[in-house]
Amino acid sequence: MLEDLKAKNAAWSRGKTEVDPQFFKRLENQQSPEYLWIGCSDSRVPANEIVGLDPGELFVHRNVANLAPPQDANYLSVLQFAVDVLKVRHVILCGHHGCGGVLATMEGGTQGPVDRWLANARDVLHRHQDEIDAQPDQAAKVNRLVEVNVMEQLRHLARLDTIQKAFAEKRELWLHGWVYDIRDGHIKTLLEIDADTDLDGMVRPDKVLV
Ligand code: CO
Repeated sequence: MLEDLKAKNAAWSRGKTEVDPQFFKRLENQQSPEYLWIGCSDSRVPANEIVGLDPGELFVHRNVANLAPPQDANYLSVLQFAVDVLKVRHVILCGHHGCGGVLATMEGGTQGPVDRWLANARDVLHRHQDEIDAQPDQAAKVNRLVEVNVMEQLRHLARLDTIQKAFAEKRELWLHGWVYDIRDGHIKTLLEIDADTDLDGMVRPDKVLV
């Protein structure tokens, strides 16, 4: 079963050691990534690949619609470990245009675990309903909700104890809200937050930089 994948794995491993014989030896004992990636599970958005990073360079958490719900122990544990133990310098929360999870949030009709999971994204939609409705077509509505969702999730993340404690201790830590365009593979910055950012002063979540 899945012999093709195992063959690809063997070729990949061989290729890595041909270029750098110590590659796996170095990674065996420790990882020291500078970045935490929080992204969507979508197969078209493979975290390491789209930012050109090797194993060991990116700590990754992915879920449907790149949400950061404050009650999700999985995401909170990844964040805590990345910031407190691995001491990453950058947390990147990356959404993507054409996101199926965001589309499902808009269209409704979901059931079971997916429906419960998307409750967090529905809250974002309700808070920005007017802006989303004002977009010219369905694709534009989805893509704007994708962007607003990234900014809201990042603001929630920034308020967590893990992050506020790191900021208070003057640790080097920056938070980035990105959107990836699956049409051309490019990333755009939507929001950046550091220790000096006035979270309460952000009346709207879209202090768009680019
Ligand atoms: Co998605």
